[in-house]
Amino acid sequence: MADIQVEALPDDPAQAYPQVLGQVRAVLTGERDAVANAANAAALLGHHLRRVNWVGFYFVRGDELVLGPFAGLPACVRIARGRGVCGTAWLEDRTQVVPDVHRFAGHIACDAASRSEVVVPVRARGRVVGVLDCDSAEVDRFGAAEVDLLEGVAAAMGAACDWPDAP
Ligand code: SME
Repeated sequence: MADIQVEALPDDPAQAYPQVLGQVRAVLTGERDAVANAANAAALLGHHLRRVNWVGFYFVRGDELVLGPFAGLPACVRIARGRGVCGTAWLEDRTQVVPDVHRFAGHIACDAASRSEVVVPVRARGRVVGVLDCDSAEVDRFGAAEVDLLEGVAAAMGAACDWPDAP
């Protein structure tokens, strides 16, 4: 694993987020284990993202998502395909941006403080193998810059790891 700088990054997402993505790519280099890589990616995102109270991964296990490494408070462990924001991102194979979780029918409240959420599918060899979920206590916290960063992290994770559910 490459050495990384973990000191505070600039406030401006346009400057900071490419550095965050670069750090994530650096920690994934030379390692194929999905749990280890997700743990380091979640730690970096939790460290650098401002006004975020939960960020982490769920892995596809059969017909469910199962909780993976994260930064934040304990969360629900199993989510059925199509349930909640995470299960919807998996079912639709599409990034979900939810500006106000109170207005998303079926939102699964893990941390009651969460008010907005973005969930990005992690894909490997053409199928969804997990999701990357990011929550904030602020309404409408996530915009295009955060979506770009999280989709970049998900793409890096999809390519960098061996995924048991990917044929
Ligand atoms: N809110 C998610 C559940 C996971 S937690 O936010 C960590 C959902 O609705 O799928």
